[in-house]
Amino acid sequence: MKKIGIIYGQERTFPQGFVEYINRMNLPDIVAESVNINKVEQGAPSPYAVIVDRISHDVPFYRAYLKNAALNGTAVINNPFWWSADEKFFNNCLATKINVPVPKTVILPSHDMPEETTEESFNNLSYPLEWNSIFEYIGFPAYMKPFAGGGWKSVYKLEDTTDFFSKYAETGRLVMLLQEEIVFTEYYRCYCVGGKHVHIMPYEPRNPHHLRYSAGFTPSEQLYKEMESIVLRINQNLGYDFNTVELAIRDGVPYAIDFCNPAPDADRNSVGEENFAWVVEAMGNFAIEKAKAFNPGNGANNLTWGAFVKHSVHAAEKNDEQNI
Ligand SMILES: Nc1ncnc2c1ncn2[C@@H]1O[C@H](COP(=O)(O)OP(=O)(O)OP(=O)(O)O)[C@@H](O)[C@H]1O
Ligand SMILES: [Mg+2]
Repeated sequence: MKKIGIIYGQERTFPQGFVEYINRMNLPDIVAESVNINKVEQGAPSPYAVIVDRISHDVPFYRAYLKNAALNGTAVINNPFWWSADEKFFNNCLATKINVPVPKTVILPSHDMPEETTEESFNNLSYPLEWNSIFEYIGFPAYMKPFAGGGWKSVYKLEDTTDFFSKYAETGRLVMLLQEEIVFTEYYRCYCVGGKHVHIMPYEPRNPHHLRYSAGFTPSEQLYKEMESIVLRINQNLGYDFNTVELAIRDGVPYAIDFCNPAPDADRNSVGEENFAWVVEAMGNFAIEKAKAFNPGNGANNLTWGAFVKHSVHAAEKNDEQNI
């Protein structure tokens, strides 16, 4: 019997729906459950063929558990190694290399110095930064948001330089992105599962929370296809099994705004019944596909690695061969 597990925090709809969806199929050799963790010994295998991770960004102990499980062949969704390496700035940087339109963006050093550092720690940073050049590049209004993390926390819309310096001072030790505002006519939040299944949801971020998924946008066929292709390109290159991509449409061009969501919101109460049904089914089917492919005897690594990592490794191997 192959086991599919899910690790989650305060969620009360998606994990339960996911487990029920799989078990309702009564497959002869696959069962789903909430992961049970107790003693975690180095190098010891986990009993799961697949684990869906919804919470290790908040619980570092779980992240370490998942890396060890992956070492022993468990297909962890999403790849815990990549999740430990990603952040919004790098994702934006990569977007510029794979033909995905993104708002002009710079990264800023944290306003306050990191713990345990003093001015003497910053030999390499020229300060003040070239603020005028930065503001000229980004323009106002602008958005400022943390380079890591999510949940709409510490996201600022800034009107001018005075506004910028006063809000920047509030951000303490957070590392922030400063970003061009995309004034959009339509906005979409898109689920992507397994780097191949895309579900595009009209989303109105200017509505109150409970009405954001009741947006009236209907994409043309051409825009739909373009968004689908952007979403696939992003996820295949970054290597997410489960992610959302937010796209803001300006002059017909979809700009990727937020695409670093390895535990995307999937709560029935926020995404609505129809989107919830899609995501439960897509994730359930994908986990089953991964469980079927899992072979406990072959010692394989069953994680997803995006094209960026795969190409990097390939290039490094070629260099090694040439140098031998
Ligand atoms: N460059 C931008 N141009 C226009 N609007 C933006 C821009 N950046 C962010 N926003 C708005 O701010 C919202 C929150 O920003 P973003 O999605 O990047 O942060 P987040 O903390 O990851 O949010 P969440 O996790 O809730 O999706 C977006 O949904 C969008 O409405
Ligand atoms: Mg967002």
